Amino acid sequence: MIIAVDGPTASGKGTISKKLATHFGLPHLDTGLLYRAVGRQVILNGGDPDNAGDALTAVAFPDELLDDPVLRNEATGSLASRASVHPAVRKALFERQRAFAKQGGGAVLDGRDIGTVIAPDADVKLFITASVTARAQRRFNEMEQRGVSISLSEIEADLERRDARDTGRKDAPLLAAEDAFVIDTSELGIEEAFAAALETIAQSQTS
Ligand code: C5P
Repeated sequence: MIIAVDGPTASGKGTISKKLATHFGLPHLDTGLLYRAVGRQVILNGGDPDNAGDALTAVAFPDELLDDPVLRNEATGSLASRASVHPAVRKALFERQRAFAKQGGGAVLDGRDIGTVIAPDADVKLFITASVTARAQRRFNEMEQRGVSISLSEIEADLERRDARDTGRKDAPLLAAEDAFVIDTSELGIEEAFAAALETIAQSQTS
């Protein structure tokens, strides 16, 4: 079974995907991490993420970079969003993601274009979303726990900028696939959101 999970930043899609993968015994790929590695590598190369050539060169990041905690920072998220606009970058990362989706036994992938571009043939497509206020508050709590000093309003502004860029780009914009099930997690805790995802999957398999 291939499960495609898309949605904006801090919607809960990563946590839900990990829990789904454990529940169904499937491998999980956080595709945002690949774009984050590209964004980070551009800076390590002394390049500019808005430059298509610099961003494409950075696709050759070393695999160890995927384990670097700096990838989880808000700043790296913004770099990823800028680097991921370039069609050549998306194309260069396509096969890696597609191969992961097509491995025997299935997989869970989360990102922005899984249900629309990477795995349009997925058995189940979930689009996990939440209000900007709810997402900003979650990210703020996460940062506070990690001891990162950043204000709620800064986070909210960054999320809005990132949403606008991800939704407005020409190539593979952030978009719910037509056959995706939308789950709004604004008012849900992690366990409730996970239960809603499980129920949606169960229903989609019987219909
Ligand atoms: O999900 P995450 O916040 O880690 O993603 C970082 C950035 O990578 C997103 O803002 C988006 O621009 C980009 N991304 C993408 N396509 C994906 C996953 C992430 O363009 N499938």
